[in-house]
Amino acid sequence: MAKGTPSFTSESLAALKQRYSNAGQAHVLKFFEDLEDETAAAFFNQLSGIDIERCNEFFDRTVRSPAGAEEEESVELEPLASGSFASALEGGSQADDLAQWRAEGMRLIRENKVAVILLAGGQGTRLGSSAPKGCYDIGLPSGKGLFEIQAERIKRLQQIAAGAGEQPATIPWLVMTSGPTSAATQKKFADSAFFGLKQEDVFFFNQGVLPCFDLDGKIMLESRGRVAVAPDGNGGIYEALRLSGALDWLRARGVEHVHSYCVDNCLVRVADPVFVGYAALRGAECGALVVPKKSWDEPVGVICMRNGRYGVVEYSEISTETAQLTRPGTASELAYNAGNICNHYYSLDFLQNRVPDIEASLEHHVAKKKITSVDIDSGDVVKPTKPNGIKLERFVFDVFPFVHKMAILEVDRKDQFSPLKNAPGAGVDCPETSRSDLIAQCIRFAEAAGATVQRAADGQEPSFEISALVSYAGEGLESLSGKTLAGDQLITDLDNIVVV
Ligand code: UD1
Repeated sequence: MAKGTPSFTSESLAALKQRYSNAGQAHVLKFFEDLEDETAAAFFNQLSGIDIERCNEFFDRTVRSPAGAEEEESVELEPLASGSFASALEGGSQADDLAQWRAEGMRLIRENKVAVILLAGGQGTRLGSSAPKGCYDIGLPSGKGLFEIQAERIKRLQQIAAGAGEQPATIPWLVMTSGPTSAATQKKFADSAFFGLKQEDVFFFNQGVLPCFDLDGKIMLESRGRVAVAPDGNGGIYEALRLSGALDWLRARGVEHVHSYCVDNCLVRVADPVFVGYAALRGAECGALVVPKKSWDEPVGVICMRNGRYGVVEYSEISTETAQLTRPGTASELAYNAGNICNHYYSLDFLQNRVPDIEASLEHHVAKKKITSVDIDSGDVVKPTKPNGIKLERFVFDVFPFVHKMAILEVDRKDQFSPLKNAPGAGVDCPETSRSDLIAQCIRFAEAAGATVQRAADGQEPSFEISALVSYAGEGLESLSGKTLAGDQLITDLDNIVVV
């Protein structure tokens, strides 16, 4: 077919128009006859690829007869009972338990049975950077971005799980992207030579998109020849894993356990052996890491019981009253305190054999947004000043209520959670807090190994970084014992450190 020649016939166009008309969405084709050939062909393809009846059904289920923005009244919520999860916090578990979970996780990694999935399809609107979040440089002495930090943790863990002098284990890394993040993410990996990992151990896959709706359920146009679409939320992972062949790829490699995590957390313990070992020893289908919330209004979901089953109430959907509830007999301990840090565990059996039957039951959530779109009357593109449209999203944790055996583990925020959500200068969950939390952790690692890290007289935070290639979680630093280390340094090699 010559470039610019429409890929449709008058019959197929008429059939498409009829389909959209039957679905009450005929307006999307209003400007079709005026489009240039090439745009018309692309638009025809886009419209043909949208399952319009299913999209309408999602809208009706979610918006027309739904729970709405706040937690549903019909849902009975209960905080997690104290015995229903384990804690890796000091005093929370026996050291023996932690050691056992870690040893099991390490064994599974050594046997190449553990993979990780990075959720990197979000658009990072709050951060305000157009590049994928994983490329973001949080201002560390090394200048490393989030993808690179994660890659180096994988590399180090592959080595320590195998043991010194052995062939490293393999932790396959699956990267979920979306339309807005896919090309730039893949380019970053390629330009960075996969950050020293083997290309064949990295698997990119794209989540789906859904059309954006106006508040009355009409599909919005981004231009006269294109529907406005948005990623279908991080819960799109399940369909995307299945359709992309990722699950078969993992199965063929002998993987049995999967850790998935959020791109924006500079402290993430990728493939966390303690978490994986804990969940695997429990024979869990699914798991989640939690941290105690900082305050009632911290923007994190809370893991709790919903109608007697595990679930999450997202921060955008919890009522102030529920968020502020305190535990009986205490004035300030939050009842709903299990902050979700978007680190999940799955057995591959669960993903492959159980989730396909659950997928259709996963509801969508409503995100009201300002969506630049075509005014159907005038045909002009209009930039709204207040939310004028709806994006429908699935949430990754909405499989929890269907899980037969969950593994919830409470961990220390300062070691495992420092999310990058907001733009520089926000003062919370921003590049400055990410940098500072990672540096503070490196200092703690050195001090736990018996070193002293020199601080400036004015009390300013030193620029002290230990490469993840040297230590994954504080291990292997014995040679630092008894030394006073210059505060401003990047340690990439333990034989080459600045001592004062
Ligand atoms: C998420 C959690 C929230 C948790 C918080 C911790 C969900 C639905 N919410 O909220 O409960 O307390 O993290 O930091 O998980 N993503 C995609 N595709 C999308 C949308 C997002 O892959 O369509 C990815 C993002 O790239 C990111 C992760 O999902 O890695 C979380 O997305 P984000 O928008 O940052 O979630 P929060 O609203 O902060």
